[in-house]
Amino acid sequence: MVPGQLRTDECRLVVVTGKGGVGKSTVSAALALAFAGAGRDTVAAELSGQARIPALLGSAASGAAGREAEVAPGTWVTTIDPEAALVEWAGQIVRPRALLEVAVRSRAFSGFVSAAPGASELISITKAWELSAPERWVSGSARHEVTVLDAPASGHGVGLLASPTTYAEIARVGPIATQAREVAQLLRDPRRCLIVTVAIPEETPVNEAVELADRLEEKLGRGPSLVVMNGLLGEELSDEEARTAHDSVPGSPALAAADRRRGLARRQTRQLERLRELSAAPVVELPDLGAAGATPDGVEELSALLAPALGLS
Ligand SMILES: Nc1ncnc2c1ncn2[C@@H]1O[C@H](COP(=O)(O)OP(=O)(O)OP(=O)(O)O)[C@@H](O)[C@H]1O
Ligand SMILES: [Mg+2]
Repeated sequence: MVPGQLRTDECRLVVVTGKGGVGKSTVSAALALAFAGAGRDTVAAELSGQARIPALLGSAASGAAGREAEVAPGTWVTTIDPEAALVEWAGQIVRPRALLEVAVRSRAFSGFVSAAPGASELISITKAWELSAPERWVSGSARHEVTVLDAPASGHGVGLLASPTTYAEIARVGPIATQAREVAQLLRDPRRCLIVTVAIPEETPVNEAVELADRLEEKLGRGPSLVVMNGLLGEELSDEEARTAHDSVPGSPALAAADRRRGLARRQTRQLERLRELSAAPVVELPDLGAAGATPDGVEELSALLAPALGLS
């Protein structure tokens, strides 16, 4: 194993979080490709209301809630809907089936999901756990080895990750407490659960990534496994930028643009150094791919850069 490389052979769940808009969904799609590319059957899961990942993986599949759609061999997408997930989970413990159907018709589940504090988070993260569990809740569902969860931004992301621990502490007995404890154990185990935080090379997102690591330590007793510094501009100008700058007269707009670009790259490098200094977890760098960052080819390029850090190539 290369020094600084993570051990991911036992990894079952990858949770991706970070400040809003820093590239969590893009990195989630790239991580799912990296695991699938290493021959691990992988499902990329979004929370309800999000539908970015199928397109990033080059598929029109919607990944209907409660179902996984296979977008390439061994690469799946799904959307987690807390209410549908709760009904599936209750199917494990509510017998007979007719009683469950009465509860569904009476909208007892939707009331629980929307009214009980933290219920939606608890069910969503439990569903993410279930996607790569050896025994699926609904018989006949595909078995997956790895789930990559595109989690919400920092504060909500920590809330989601902390909900099983919080719940297991409140409710000491009963099937929900038992289930919550099992999920909490997975989330606290760095060998089976990777937590990946994403930042971009600017002051506030770097601060937020550092605070996030502290919050994770506090709530889960562990920090992130990996920090991704996304959207780095190389200090070198592209061939075309260099040519334009070279051909320009002093004081021309092209030369000023090249200077600004170099200045921005230098400020980014300082933020990268800050993140490396302040982060206990390894930091992996991803380039700014411009418009290609939103395409399947771009996601594949990012995936190839992430794979070595995960020991997957
Ligand atoms: N490495 C990259 N190169 C170029 N563009 C990128 C890169 N990473 C992300 N982007 C672009 O940045 C924007 C935000 O990315 P993304 O949607 O993945 O962020 P997010 O953290 O999931 O956002 P949100 O908090 O809204 O869910 C998108 O337009 C995406 O295509
Ligand atoms: Mg997103």
